[in-house]
Amino acid sequence: MSHEHDRVLILDFGSQFTQLIARSIREEEVYCEIHPPTRSLDWIRAWDPAAVILSGGPSSVYDDDVPKTDPELLEAGFPILGICYGMQLIAHIEGGDVKRGHREYGRAELTAVNGDKLFAGFGSGEHTTVWCSHGDHVDEPPEGYDRIASTATLPTAAFRAKDRPIYGVQFHPEVAHTDRGREIISNFLFEVAGCRSTWTAGAFIEDTIEKIREQVGDSSVICGLSGGVDSSVAAMLVHRAIGDRLTCIFVDHGLLRKNERDQVETMFRSHYEMRLVVENVADLFLEDLAGVVDPEAKRKAIGKRFIEVFDAAAKREGTGARFLVQGTLYPDVIESVSVGGPSVMIKSHHNVGGLPDEVPFDLVEPLKELFKDEVRQVGRELGLPDDFVKRHPFPGPGLAIRILGEVTNERLAVLREADAIYLDEIRAADLYDEIWQALAVLLPVRSVGVMGDARTYENVLALRAVTSRDGMTADWYQFPNEVLRRISTRIINEVEGVNRVTYDVSSKPPATIEWE
Ligand code: XMP
Repeated sequence: MSHEHDRVLILDFGSQFTQLIARSIREEEVYCEIHPPTRSLDWIRAWDPAAVILSGGPSSVYDDDVPKTDPELLEAGFPILGICYGMQLIAHIEGGDVKRGHREYGRAELTAVNGDKLFAGFGSGEHTTVWCSHGDHVDEPPEGYDRIASTATLPTAAFRAKDRPIYGVQFHPEVAHTDRGREIISNFLFEVAGCRSTWTAGAFIEDTIEKIREQVGDSSVICGLSGGVDSSVAAMLVHRAIGDRLTCIFVDHGLLRKNERDQVETMFRSHYEMRLVVENVADLFLEDLAGVVDPEAKRKAIGKRFIEVFDAAAKREGTGARFLVQGTLYPDVIESVSVGGPSVMIKSHHNVGGLPDEVPFDLVEPLKELFKDEVRQVGRELGLPDDFVKRHPFPGPGLAIRILGEVTNERLAVLREADAIYLDEIRAADLYDEIWQALAVLLPVRSVGVMGDARTYENVLALRAVTSRDGMTADWYQFPNEVLRRISTRIINEVEGVNRVTYDVSSKPPATIEWE
C-alpha cells in the first residue's frame, strides 16, 4: 500500500509524554497517530507504518496484566524505537534482563558510543544532557543487540539490534529537558526509517477537512465561537469543510473582556462569510453564578449554561444541528481527564470536563491533538491575520475564574477596567508578543490605603504574566520595573474600587496559570 504521507505509528503504553512524541514527529513534518498497544499485528501491517514507536509508561514488564504488544512485531521488518518502558519491553521480548527498582528521575549526561545513526551528528566522547524518568532499566543489551549510548548510572542508555533497525532508549528524547532530543528523533525518522517530511500545516488542513466531512455527513453543525484562536481556527476548518451548514454562535456571557464582543463581531462579519449569531445572555450566566464561590462549581455552572444556550440557539435558528464544534486542544484533554487517564484531573476546562454529562450534541474537535503553537501555525495557513493568531489565550469561563469569590456585575466592571489598562500598557511597551498570557485577578480581600488624605478600604488586584511554550508549564514574566510602575499607577488612579496592585511570581507547576 502506498500513502501520500509516510506514517509513524505510536503505540501508547500510558506515558504522560506520549503526545510530546507525536508533537516532535509532527514538527519534523511527518504524519503520526497514537494507538493503544493492543493493536494486532495484522492491524499494524494494514496500517502500514513507515516506523513504529513504543512509548514509555508507568508499568514494569514484570507486573501482572501489563500492556504488551505482539512479540512478532519485532520480526515484521518495521523500524522501531522503544522509549523507556518501550525499550524494556523490547529487551524483555528478546529474552534480555530488565533490572527492577533503581528509580531515576531527572537529568543525566549521555555519551554516544559506536557512532550509530541514531546519534548522527554527536561527537565521539561528547556529553549531552538527557532526561530520565524510570523505575526499571536495562543494564546489558539482550542477545543480538549492541549498546550505543551510556550514562554514569546506565551502562546501556540506548541499544540497537545488530541485524534490524530496532532501537531502544532509556531516556526521554521527546521532552524539552533532553537537550538534543529533537535531533535523536529526527535521526530515527530520517536516517533510520527514511521517512519523507510532507506533513505540513497545509496537509493537516486538507486531511482535517476530509475527516470533518466524514464525521458530520450532511448534517448541520453549530460552533461555539469565543473569539479566541482555537475556536476561530476550528470554525474556519469546519466552514471550509461544509460551508453554510455551519452556524457560529458567539455567547456574550457577560464574562468577557472590555470590547471583546465588538471586536469579534467585526472581525467575523466583515472578513469571513460565516453565519454568526450573537447570544446576549449575561443575565442567565450571572444568575447561575450568584452565591457560587467554589472554582469547580463555577466551571460546571458555566459549562452547563453554555450547552443550554447552544441548544436553544440551534433550535431557534432551525439548524437542527446534531454536532457542536469545540476548539479543544490537547492540554485541555490532558488536564481534564482523571481516573484511568494519563494524569490526574487538575481543573475541568469547560471545553472538556466542564461539560455536563448529557450533551445533546456530538462533539467535533478538530484540534484535539494539537498544542497551541501548532494551532497558531494552522491559523496562519488558513489566512487569519497575524495579530489575531498571536492573541493571548483566554479561558472559556472568562473573567468568572479571575474573580475569586462571588462573581457580581460590580466586581466584573472593576476587573474589566483594570484588565483593559493592563493589556493596553503591555501593548504600548511592545511586550505583548513576548508574553504567553497576561491576566488580572480580583481578590476577595480588601486592604487599607490612603488617597487624597482620606482612608480607603478597597479591593486588591493581582497581575499575572507568564511565558510558556504550550500552557502545560509556565514561568512568571519579568517586566521592566518602569512598566509595572506605570500599570499599577494607572490602575489605582483610574479604576474605582482598587487601591492596591500586586504581582504574581509563581511558576506552573506548582501554581497554575489561572488562579481558579
Ligand atoms: P491553567 O490555569 O490550567 O491554564 O494553568 C492553562 C491554559 O488553559 C487556559 N484555561 C482554559 N481555557 N477553558 C478554556 O478554554 C477553560 O476552562 C480554561 N481554564 C484554563 C488558561 O487560560 C491557560 O492558557
